[in-house]
Amino acid sequence: MAFSEQILEEIQSKSDIAEVIGSYIPLKRAGRNFKANCPFHKEKTPSFMVSPSKQIFHCFGCGAGGNIFHFVMKFEGIEFPDAVRALAEKAGVELPRFTRSEFEQSAYAVQIYKINEFAASYYHSTLLKTEAGKRAAEYLEKRGVSEETITQAKLGFAADAWDGFINFAKSKGFETALLERSGLVISREEGGHYDRFRNKIIFPIFDIKNRVVAFGARVLDDSLPKYINSPETEVYVKSRHLYGLNFSLQAVKERDFCVIVEGYLDFLIPYQNGIKNIAASLGTSLTESQARLIKRYTRNAVILYDGDSAGEAASLRGLDLFVQEGVNVKVAVLPKGYDPDSFVRSEGTAAFNSLIDSAADLFEYKLGILTSRYDARNAAAKSRVCAEMLPTIARVNNAVLKFEYIKRLAERLQVREEDLLTELKKVKPDYTYEPSADAVAATDVCPGAKAEKILIGLMLDDAELIAEVQKHLKAEDFADEKTRKVICEIFKSYAAGKALSAAGLINCLEGDNLCSIVSEAASLTEIITDRQKNLIDCVKNIKEQNNKNKLTELRNLINVAQVMGDGKKVEQLLAELSGLLRSSKEFARR
Ligand code: GTP
Ligand code: MN
Repeated sequence: MAFSEQILEEIQSKSDIAEVIGSYIPLKRAGRNFKANCPFHKEKTPSFMVSPSKQIFHCFGCGAGGNIFHFVMKFEGIEFPDAVRALAEKAGVELPRFTRSEFEQSAYAVQIYKINEFAASYYHSTLLKTEAGKRAAEYLEKRGVSEETITQAKLGFAADAWDGFINFAKSKGFETALLERSGLVISREEGGHYDRFRNKIIFPIFDIKNRVVAFGARVLDDSLPKYINSPETEVYVKSRHLYGLNFSLQAVKERDFCVIVEGYLDFLIPYQNGIKNIAASLGTSLTESQARLIKRYTRNAVILYDGDSAGEAASLRGLDLFVQEGVNVKVAVLPKGYDPDSFVRSEGTAAFNSLIDSAADLFEYKLGILTSRYDARNAAAKSRVCAEMLPTIARVNNAVLKFEYIKRLAERLQVREEDLLTELKKVKPDYTYEPSADAVAATDVCPGAKAEKILIGLMLDDAELIAEVQKHLKAEDFADEKTRKVICEIFKSYAAGKALSAAGLINCLEGDNLCSIVSEAASLTEIITDRQKNLIDCVKNIKEQNNKNKLTELRNLINVAQVMGDGKKVEQLLAELSGLLRSSKEFARR
């Protein structure tokens, strides 16, 4: 994003959304809000609403929604930066003169790179040359990190002190203001500064030009949080980087594919063991910018995430983004309990390579997960599988491949190709898709979806409710992929102590296909008075839904185990099943 969140917020706070939208279309007052006939689809009765207090618009008819920037973009058919410029001018907000790439070349950014370089060397020599560093060196040895890797990745150690780095940096003439700006030191409210990284293993994060842009830091034991990171700075936008790509570039080009893992050690240990075409996403969800970065070197990616369900969800989300950017994605699944680091250490490089070779193409992988989640023999489930597959297929740019996928989906679900093609046309430009009632089979796509959206709306209305929701649900409990993304962003901001409005949240979300979820969520809670009761109802609804899905999945697994004659497995699954039945009854009684 070329504009900072602060600037976007400032423009929004100085603009009146009703006035802005009212200058394009006639608005009618409806209580605190405004109504209109939606300008984005044909309608006779107004389902388009504008909320001045929330700074958003939403159409319940066609699903269009967002903040003022999105309205102007959509209405005038212009790009985001142009909408920002137009609205900034109207609101009298002066935009920064530099775009990001100009800024990266300015003297100021150069200073941050210098500090980062300096800090990386400081932490590196603390690791190698000080008494305090010994414990860290032992830890790395225990994790199987070789000396060569430590040197190449310039791993380091931040000693257990509040001012080790800052004092050393100051003694070398670095100014405190700049140190703070680099994210390496933090200012105290009562004055003074302290080191961000203390008693931690340091992983410098390099960009592809080998400049240190940020740091990751790990505790040496099991305490939480396991990792902390540099904040975003002038030279670091998290979503744009892939850890280790600076080292693997050449191999990625040569082998014409890139293995993508999640963590620092999931990069370092396989790399050290000869898997040279690899990079790490450093978090669970892959971004469009990361897809674009990869695309400069190869059009092929193999995603290799942990064999737990979080990894599975993360891969599914990453897949769509990569496909959209024209990167061919395959997914390799690790055996349960392994991550790439532990797998290569216990099974070796050859096994690692054959795991990569056996990666399933995205279509097979996603369809496999969906058919195990829903029993794809009944009509309702078929429709659900379609509802999740079609938006992915719609993202495929290559028409031949797209048709091939439709053919395969038709075959697998035993439905007609023509029906799927008709449905494919209904996937909207923002990749949302509402199956029509009689399409493949009549059903509600995701019965908990409404409850999930209402929860988002409630949390945006009242940040105190976020903790309340977190008491009952984790981000993974949200079944809808896009809703889950929004939830993650809300939880993230909340954890960072950042207040978040609906309009502000939209600015944080990459790509505009999520903004209609936020605007819809914010609109849904307009009429709610008893927030607490609604919250509990929604939580209940979501839990029930998840339990239902889980039950179906378990029953499927039991069938399979019975067919395979695996009595032990059947027994174990039955125990799981009865546990689940018990706990779902208990929750329903509360
Ligand atoms: P090890 O336990 O050292 O093997 O780490 P890991 O990389 O296997 O950790 P995990 O699979 O749990 O997480 C994958 C990546 O997510 C990490 O490398 C980090 O980049 C990130 N991550 C994990 N935990 C945290 C955390 O508590 N905070 C933050 N900011 N990032 C985390
Ligand atoms: Mn690990």
